[in-house]
Amino acid sequence: MSITQISKRLSSSPQRFPDCCLGISSTLIAHLSSILPKKPTFTVSVGSGSGLLEALIVNHDENVTVQGVEIGSAVNRYIAEEHMNVVIGGWGLCSAAQQATAWMFVYPRDPKLIKKYIDTYGDRPLELIAWLGPKVDWPDYELQFRQSSFSELTYPDDIGLTPYEVMVIARRSC
Ligand SMILES: C[S@@+](CC[C@H](N)C(=O)[O-])C[C@H]1O[C@@H](n2cnc3c(N)ncnc32)[C@H](O)[C@@H]1O
Repeated sequence: MSITQISKRLSSSPQRFPDCCLGISSTLIAHLSSILPKKPTFTVSVGSGSGLLEALIVNHDENVTVQGVEIGSAVNRYIAEEHMNVVIGGWGLCSAAQQATAWMFVYPRDPKLIKKYIDTYGDRPLELIAWLGPKVDWPDYELQFRQSSFSELTYPDDIGLTPYEVMVIARRSC
């Protein structure tokens, strides 16, 4: 099924897909599209997996670019090749993050990877970091954000997530 077909089947209630950890709804895609930077600036999604969420965002708003980052090229299915970045190993960093205005971490595996990204590439033009994942995981990540330059945290409500998932937007504290 194409991204356009998947997109048309989304509803305001979050659905699970076999190749995305996060429950996805049309409300969530519209919300993410509205907060992510518009061209020529772009977003980097670290650990993009199949790229389903990222491709749905881009399909929803053609003025948004989301580049993916993954370990190896085999896992990506939906992000256009020219927008994919490959790193070597779980601690590999993608230098494209340095030019991005926003980062996404969706169901990341280790809070220390986010700290490493902020310490290495967290200067301007970066404006926001969107973290999405299970509510139970958030406390481990919150600590990393609170101790970083991206410690201003907001928790948008009613954005079409499942009851057990959360999105947090981190912005530069000064
Ligand atoms: C739990 S999966 C989440 C995938 C996707 N975001 C989703 O929600 O379906 C975590 C992903 O992060 C990737 N990953 C782990 N370390 C990474 C790194 N340093 N750079 C890029 N991706 C990484 C893994 O290969 C894996 O696909």
